[in-house]
Amino acid sequence: GHVTYLAHDGRAYEVELEDGLSVMEGAVRNGIPGIDADCGGMCACATCHVHVADEWRAAVGNPGEQEDELLELAPERDDASRLSCQIVMSPQLDGLVVHMPESQH
Ligand code: FES
Repeated sequence: GHVTYLAHDGRAYEVELEDGLSVMEGAVRNGIPGIDADCGGMCACATCHVHVADEWRAAVGNPGEQEDELLELAPERDDASRLSCQIVMSPQLDGLVVHMPESQH
C-alpha cells in the first residue's frame, strides 16, 4: 500500500510498501531520513518513533504493552505515537500518513 512519511521540515516521502512489511522497513529501504531503526525492528530501541496522522489512528490502533513502555523513553511522545516497526502494512492501511518526530532528524 501507499505510505506518506512527513518530515518535520515539511518534506514528504511517498513509498509503495508491500503488505506484510513494516512502516519502519519502508522508510529504511527507501533511505528516508528520520527513522533510524537501530534495533532492526525488534521493538527495542524506539528510534523508529512516528506520529500517526489523526485520520489513521483508528485503523492503526494502539501500541502493545512492550511498545508502550519503550515509547515512554521517546522524546515528543504523544497520543498518536507508535513505533513504526510495529505497524505492518495491510490493505486497510493503504494511504497511511505518518509524521516523523523532529528529534529523530
Ligand atoms: Fe527499534 Fe522499532 S526499529 S523499536
